[in-house]
Parts: sequence; structure tokens; C-alpha cells
Amino acid sequence: MEGPPIVLDNGSGTIKVGFAGECEPRVVHDNVFTALRASRNVPGGEDFAKALQANTARFPVMDHGIVSQWEGLLEVIEAALEEMKADASKHPVLLTEAPLNPTVHRELLVERFFEELHVPALQVVHSGALALYATNSRTGLVIEVGDGVAQTVPLYDSYVIFNAVKRRDYGGRDLTAYLGELMSKEINHRPSSSEVGWRAWKEVKESMCRVRHKNPVEEASKQLSFYLPDGKVVTRDSECLTKCVDALFEPARLLKRDEEEQGIHKMAAESILESGRDTQKALAGNIVLSGGSMSFPGMCHRVEEELQKLLPTTVKAAVKLVKSPTYAAFTGGSIVASMPDLLDTFMTRSEYEEHGAAFIHKKSVRLTQPPTMS
Ligand SMILES: Nc1ncnc2c1ncn2[C@@H]1O[C@H](COP(=O)(O)OP(=O)(O)OP(=O)(O)O)[C@@H](O)[C@H]1O
Ligand SMILES: [Mg+2]
Repeated sequence: MEGPPIVLDNGSGTIKVGFAGECEPRVVHDNVFTALRASRNVPGGEDFAKALQANTARFPVMDHGIVSQWEGLLEVIEAALEEMKADASKHPVLLTEAPLNPTVHRELLVERFFEELHVPALQVVHSGALALYATNSRTGLVIEVGDGVAQTVPLYDSYVIFNAVKRRDYGGRDLTAYLGELMSKEINHRPSSSEVGWRAWKEVKESMCRVRHKNPVEEASKQLSFYLPDGKVVTRDSECLTKCVDALFEPARLLKRDEEEQGIHKMAAESILESGRDTQKALAGNIVLSGGSMSFPGMCHRVEEELQKLLPTTVKAAVKLVKSPTYAAFTGGSIVASMPDLLDTFMTRSEYEEHGAAFIHKKSVRLTQPPTMS
């Protein structure tokens, strides 16, 4: 007999796993492939493996929303399920994916889940769309920035307005690297590529960085200083702490590759303006901030300020922002997967065997089809 659906929010930085109907994930793991695991695939034998372990090398399973280490992903999921004492073959799985990924990526996910995790049924949904459900609303614009992906997803009456979804490949991981670069120059710190150095910058970012704006009403009193492993100290008045977050509004600072650069405020404004005229006010009136990299103090205020500059008068009067709960994509997935008729939209094992992995597109569209508006 099948147990309750398992919800799996597969993020670029962390994987969040739990059962449908529960508010929070039971397990949150870094989505990394350790040196020990990776060494099995690396030619060069045992010595190389030992060297990797000594360096505590860790390889991300995901690269900006795309799985880059398939074996690593399966091991991370298996470890999480073991911790939950759950057997994947006995639970339907609701899995998240970043929007606008190549369609073949979703097919590969489906193949791995049926062939290697032996799931009985699977559904794949955009994480941004799920975050809206976590706030108990069905119409709104989600601005989600996690570890590797920035996305703006407008939904009207539960349906994703596909043509207005925006996605860019930057997130918290890039901010951590950028902060490290900035701070190393400011305090003459010796740049370190090791895990220890990286962890330190991530901690500084999460505990000290904040958004710059003229009227800092939301600025919580954060940590005053941070001692780096080499003894250098980061103080709260460092310019780098706000400059780092500025990059979300000016991602050209982060992206050192040829790509169209667009800050989260511009993505959000375009998502609203590319949706139908009759939906724009409703979307602007419920803007939901989601993902770890939207947790900087002052973020709601700054996004609102920026949108006021970009939206036409009639729409900007409606602008209202809310912060979603931590792990919003998981929580939304948990709500969706508990709906009695949702299991009908899951792709079953027999459908996989009969039609192949590409059949998932027919199934997923039932959750994300365009609205029929009068
Ligand atoms: N309090 C905080 N302030 C700023 N950043 C934070 C905070 N807490 C977590 N983060 C950052 O949020 C990121 C993780 O967020 P999240 O779990 O939403 O991403 P993800 O789901 O793993 O990735 P993605 O959705 O982009 O594929 C990390 O970069 C982390 O450093
Ligand atoms: Mg995420």
C-alpha cells in the first residue's frame, strides 16, 4: 500500500524533504557530493581520493538549478529518505524544479526517479509556484532567489502565467563568492578557496549582510562583528555588507559570463507587465518574497521602492509585499500534495512504462496551464 506523498524541494544549495501534510521538511541537507563519493568516479585511484578527502572537497550536486552530479543527487536523496525512514518505492513523490529548465532535464529527473528510486508516481512543479501556496493565496507574483536561481513567477487563480515567468542563473552562492572577493580586498584578508573560508563568508553573509536603502526601517540589529579563521575581523559598518546585496539589483557584478543581466526588481516588473492587463493589479497586490537569498533585512522595503520606479501609476498603487515562511516551496508542495484530487495529476509507473519519460510534460501542465479569463 502507498504511504503519504513525499515532497522533495531539490534546491541548488540544499535539499528539503518531508511528508505531504507537514508544515516543514523533516530533513534539510546540503545538496553536495562529498569527496568520498566523488572519488569513485575519478580516475587516479585511492591517493587522489585521499587527497580529496583531506581537503574536505565537496562538489555541488546542482549547478544553478540543473543537476550536474546525477549519482550525487541520488545519494543525497537516499540519505535523506533513510533519515526519514521512508522507502521511495512506497510513496508518490512531488519534486520541485527551477522554471525554464531544458525540457530534457525534467525527463532525466523522471527517468532517474522511476528507474533508480523506484517511485510509484511522480509530479514535478516549479518551486516558485509552490511558494505562493505556502502563503495561502492563489493569485500573486513570487520573487524567489535561492542558492543558484533567481525567478519571478506570476500565478492567477493557481495557474502559472507561463509567458511572463522570468529566470536568471544567480543566487546566494554567487553572493557568497562576491562577498569574499569584496571583503578580501577591504580587510586585506588572504583569499581562501577552502571549505573553511567559504563557510566563513557564508556565515558573514547570512548574519551580517543587509539591504541598502534610504530609509532603513526594516534593518534588524544583526551581529556586530565576525572573526574570520585567520583572526581578521569583519565589523557591522563594512561597506561590503550592503554592496554584496546590491548585486541582486545589479547582477552584472556577479555574472562573469556573457548573459543578459537583469536584477530581481526588473524581472518582477516585467513579469507583472507581461501578464494580462486585467491581472496586473492583482499580481502587484500580492508579491511574495521566497528563498533564502530574499531573507536579508530590508529586502521587502527595497523591492517595493524599486518597483515604484518601474511600474505605471495605476499598477504601482496596488503594490504590496509579503515574506513567505522559511522553506516556502516545501510548505507549498506539502499543501498541494495533500489535496485529495492532486494525486490524479501524478505520472504513474504504468504511464512511464507505456509512454516514456516525456509524458511528464502532459501531466505537469495540468498544474500550470494558462488561466482561461473572461
Ligand atoms: N538569513 C539569510 N540571509 C541571507 N541569505 C541567506 C539566509 N539564509 C540562507 N541564505 C542563503 O540562501 C541560499 C539558500 O536558499 P534556498 O534554500 O532557498 O536555495 P536553494 O533552494 O537551495 O537553491 P535554488 O532554489 O536557487 O536552486 C544560500 O545561498 C544561503 O546562504
Ligand atoms: Mg529553492
